[in-house]
Amino acid sequence: VENQPVPSMVDQPKIIAHRGANDRFNESTLTAYEIAAKDGVDSLEIDLRLTKDNSLVAIHDQSVDRTTDGAGKVIDFTLEEIQKFSTVAVFGNNTHKEEIPTLEDILEKFVDTEHYYIETRLVDGRLVMEEQLVQLLNEYGLIEKGLVTIQSFSEESLNKITELAPEVPLTLLFKKGQFDLSRAKQVEFPYIGIETTDVTRKVVNELHKQGKEVHVYFNNRDTEKSEQKRVKALLVDGYFTNDITYTKELFKQ
Ligand code: G3P
Ligand code: CA
Repeated sequence: VENQPVPSMVDQPKIIAHRGANDRFNESTLTAYEIAAKDGVDSLEIDLRLTKDNSLVAIHDQSVDRTTDGAGKVIDFTLEEIQKFSTVAVFGNNTHKEEIPTLEDILEKFVDTEHYYIETRLVDGRLVMEEQLVQLLNEYGLIEKGLVTIQSFSEESLNKITELAPEVPLTLLFKKGQFDLSRAKQVEFPYIGIETTDVTRKVVNELHKQGKEVHVYFNNRDTEKSEQKRVKALLVDGYFTNDITYTKELFKQ
C-alpha cells in the first residue's frame, strides 16, 4: 500500500462549476453560469438533453419535474414547449425563475471567454447528440481554441466524439459505486470522472501513473466540503464543485 500521493502533470486542479453556480441560482441556467463565470472558474459543466425536435438543451434530469414548474420528459417536448416552463428554485426568501437554456444560448453568451465541460449521453440507446454537438462547437470555433472537454458515462458516445473531433479531450465517467479501476486504466481517454466516495489513494495514484487525470464529482452536498478536503490530499486534478467559493478557498495560495 502506498502512503504517498502520486502527483499528476497538473499544477493546480481544475475548478469545474457543476451545473453553474447551483448554490446561488437555479442549476443549469444562464444566470447560474454567469455567476460561475464571474467567480473565475476554470470550466462550466453542462448536462445535455435532446428535445422532441432535436434541440440540445441544458438540463440534468430526464424529466423537467425536479427543476421546473412543468412535468414530463424532455424528449416529449419541442423546444418551444419546453421553454414555456420555468426552472424554479428557492434561495433563502427568494424564488428564482428562469427558462431552460439551449446549449447554443450558453455558447452565444460566453463564446470563447469560458471553457465548457459538456456531458453527452445516449438517447434511448442511440447516438443522436454527438454530430450536432460537434457541429455547434465548431461553428463557435471552440474546438480549435481548446475550450471544450466532453464527458460521458457512455464509452460509445465518447468514441463517436473521437471519430468526429479527435482533438477534444474526453472524460469517461463512472457511476457512484460502479468504479472499475482496471477499466479506467485501460481506456484511451485522458481524464477519468469518479464520484468522491469511490476515490481512494490507490485509485488516484494508479491513474496518475497511467498519465490520467482524476476529476471528482460529489453526489452528497452534506459531506461535500469534507470530501473536497480529503481528495485534495490525494492530489486529484479536477472538482465538479457545487460550492465554488469553498473550492476556491481550499486552493488559495
Ligand atoms: O458530470 C460529472 C457529474 O456531473 C456526473 O454526475 O449526475 O451530476 O451529471 P451528474
Ligand atoms: Ca453532469
